[in-house]
Amino acid sequence: MLRMVSGKPSLFSVLFMTQIFHGITSHQCGAGIYSIFQKMLRGHTYMTIESQAGTVALECREACHTDFRCQSYNIDVLNSKCELNNRTKEARPEDFVKHKDRYYMARNSKRVPLGSIPELPAYSCREIKASEGGQAVSGTYWLDSTRSGNSILAHCDMKTEEPEFKAVFTNLGSTAAGGPSSIGSHYTGQDHDGQVTVSSGIQLWTVPYTGEYRIEAIGGAGWYGENSVVQNGGRGAKLTGNFNLTKDEIIRILVGHKGKRGPNSKTTTGGGGGTFVVRGTNTPLIIAGGGGGIKNMSERHSGM
Ligand SMILES: *[C@@H]1O[C@H](CO)[C@@H](O)[C@H](O)[C@H]1NC(C)=O
Ligand SMILES: *[C@@H]1O[C@H](CO)[C@@H](O)[C@H](O)[C@H]1NC(C)=O
Ligand SMILES: *[C@@H]1O[C@H](CO)[C@@H](O)[C@H](O)[C@H]1NC(C)=O
Repeated sequence: MLRMVSGKPSLFSVLFMTQIFHGITSHQCGAGIYSIFQKMLRGHTYMTIESQAGTVALECREACHTDFRCQSYNIDVLNSKCELNNRTKEARPEDFVKHKDRYYMARNSKRVPLGSIPELPAYSCREIKASEGGQAVSGTYWLDSTRSGNSILAHCDMKTEEPEFKAVFTNLGSTAAGGPSSIGSHYTGQDHDGQVTVSSGIQLWTVPYTGEYRIEAIGGAGWYGENSVVQNGGRGAKLTGNFNLTKDEIIRILVGHKGKRGPNSKTTTGGGGGTFVVRGTNTPLIIAGGGGGIKNMSERHSGM
């Protein structure tokens, strides 16, 4: 057992620790040494553990390897402390800094990939790519882009390194005048699964993460009289726009229905409903008008 003399560790104690490490790592998985001297990862410590001079290296290793959140750790040689980090130096190269009394240790086995579990969300898709290097493939990951402490599942496109969100809001199968009354299983397994509620026929969508969204709104089609030459009504308008939305804001969506035949005469018919996309406090983002109802359509031209 080594002891510190007058508060400063001797060079010998540091060397001794690495040798232990070398022994352990090469014994367990044939890997090399993962320590980097006089460097530390700054700003990602989620837990600090006090240890003793002679055992700090082993204790830190044990602590990191038994905590699934631990991605790497710094050893504070002077104070015999372990700083467990929830990032690697690869994920945050800008925070990998010099420090004369510390050394950095990579977790060399069973490290949980960043963003793969809700307890270890990434701040961005880019961070996952940096952390996992060649291993990161486009797919679903846990993100907490605003560092709110809540993880959400998002699709990361590892080419653009941006989250990808793609969802289609429908009339939820409802043609009732009052609109749909519940989501049912219409959005199950899709990107907006769990983010939408219904109130008075209007869908309330909680924006999952801050960013630019492209919204395409299409109005409901009008209907047609039963003897119409062409069996079609007018098309709903289609509008597209890009909007910056903020995580947790509520977007209200009313999806227009198609028109209906008249209740008395089957030769008359109604127009389609408009589709409205509105920011929480009734600031319109996009409103796409519904198509007209047509009693007798004789010609129809292809749309855009
Ligand atoms: C990661 O560590 C930082 C402190 O460095 C902390 O603020 C954050 O909450 C931690 N994240 C998780 C998911 O534990
Ligand atoms: C619909 O219009 C066409 C041509 O304009 C006409 O020949 C036909 O009789 C009309 N049908 C009805 C049901 O009004
Ligand atoms: C959204 O915000 C980004 C960054 O501030 C900006 O570059 C972009 O033009 C904005 N997009 C829209 C549609 O306002």
